[in-house]
Parts: sequence; structure tokens; C-alpha cells
Amino acid sequence: MSLTIAVANQKGGVGKTTTTVNLACALSKHGKKTLIIDADPQASATIYLRNDPRKLEAQHQTLYYGLLKEKSLTELVVGGNPALIPSSIMLSAADAELMSEPFSSVVLKEKVNELRDEYDFIIIDTPPNLSLLTINALSAADRVLIPTKAEYLDIMGIPLLFETIQKIQRRGNNRLQVLGILPTLFNAHFSQDRAILEELRASLGGSTRILEPINRSTAFGRSASVGKPILELDPNIPGAQVYYKLAEELITYAV
Ligand SMILES: Nc1ncnc2c1ncn2[C@@H]1O[C@H](COP(=O)(O)OP(=O)(O)O)[C@@H](O)[C@H]1O
Ligand SMILES: [Mg+2]
Repeated sequence: MSLTIAVANQKGGVGKTTTTVNLACALSKHGKKTLIIDADPQASATIYLRNDPRKLEAQHQTLYYGLLKEKSLTELVVGGNPALIPSSIMLSAADAELMSEPFSSVVLKEKVNELRDEYDFIIIDTPPNLSLLTINALSAADRVLIPTKAEYLDIMGIPLLFETIQKIQRRGNNRLQVLGILPTLFNAHFSQDRAILEELRASLGGSTRILEPINRSTAFGRSASVGKPILELDPNIPGAQVYYKLAEELITYAV
């Protein structure tokens, strides 16, 4: 049985894809069989892992065909560990098409159940909105991890995400738990970043875990552009170590 984690925040540019890819790579480095499901039509995780979404689309090898064209998710998997179910821009049609499916919010959940026994961890990257794709990811997940930038406008959006999570918990996925809020692109030298972290702890820390921040580092941009996870490219930067420790903790406590 695997643990399924949705990485979600309706804000863009907060580190969802970076967290998905690097946490998955950290889990696989710990020897755990890990699958990334790219549920974002922008296909950033797919590209990060050095895959060409257009080519995969031409082969009908993307999540769209699992959600809407009756392909099994097992058929769609590419890569080794972490394995990947790729995305492409075609997935942007999925929202409208899912709407006409009965039980439109649990299509991914039903699909994920097919391969739950094959992986230790399944990590789902989500788009920067609260569309049906995000709802499907949250409905399929056991945990949700919420990356956020240490910026005022970013943390102001978190209560809306919590409302959505609570509705999903009430309406069918009572397994779903918030793993925590993960501050990303954090710079401890900036007083504003420290102040926002304090604000997060004061406003949400009572009920939600605020995880150790991921420091801002240019190595993450480089990691994405060369398609190498941070733990291979630059394992000693603090941010890499935080992802590694988070993976270790998940393996020890969450399963
Ligand atoms: N810890 C970090 N330090 C510096 N840059 C980062 C860090 N995490 C992510 N980034 C960069 O920030 C941008 C947005 O990150 P991304 O993971 O794509 O966010 P999202 O998936 O939420 O849109 C990317 O260019 C990424 O390389
Ligand atoms: Mg992304």
C-alpha cells in the first residue's frame, strides 16, 4: 500500500513542482519506489525530469488518456525510480471534459487505486488553481503538502485552500490530512521572510505543522534546467538536505 501525497497551492511559482520532483527523488534515494503523477497541464514536472510532453502526447502517453480515455495508469508510466505519469497541454481540456463524468472529482482516485500496491509513495503535482484537476488530486490523496513562498500575498491564499481541503475531507475523502505548510524560496537574511514565517506560525501553527523552510538557492533553477534533482546536482545546499530529511521522516512515520 502506498502513501499518496498531493502537493497543492492555487498560487503559481511557490515551489510545488520543485518540491514534487525533489521530494520524490529523495524518497527514491532512500530506496522507496516512488511515482510522480504530473496533474498540471503546464507539464513542468514532466519537463523537469527530461521528458518531451509533445512527443509523449503524440504517443497518447499522458495523464489525459488515463483520466478520460480509459487507458490504465500502469500503461502510462515512464522512467524508473522515480517513475512518472506525464502531462501535456492536452490535460487543460480535462477540466471541462471531467465535468460531464459522473463523480467527476474522484476519477483520478479510482485510477490511482489500480496501482497503489506497486509504489511506496505517489506524489501528485497540481496546477496553480482550484480546478477539477486539483480537486481530483486532493480526493486521491492521503496527505496534502502545501508549499508557500514567504510573501504576504501568498500566505493570504492559504485559508481558501484549507476551506477546499475541509470540504473534500467532509465529502468523501476522510483519509486526507494536511502534512504541513512548507515555506519555500526562504531567505533567513531577509527580515521580511522571517516576519512572514512568524506570521504563518502565529496564524496557522496551532492547527497545522509549519515545516522547516527550504532556503532560496539558484541551484534549484539550475536543477530544473539541466534536469537533475537537487540531491544529485548540489546535495550539500541546505534546501537539498531539508527535502532529504522530509523524505526520511515520511518513511519513518507516515506509512
Ligand atoms: N528553494 C528555491 N530557491 C530558489 N528558486 C526556487 C526554489 N524553489 C523553486 N524555485 C524556483 O521558483 C520557480 C517556481 O517554482 P515551481 O516549483 O515551478 O513552482 P510552482 O510549481 O508552484 O509553480 C522555478 O523557477 C523554480 O526553479
Ligand atoms: Mg508547477
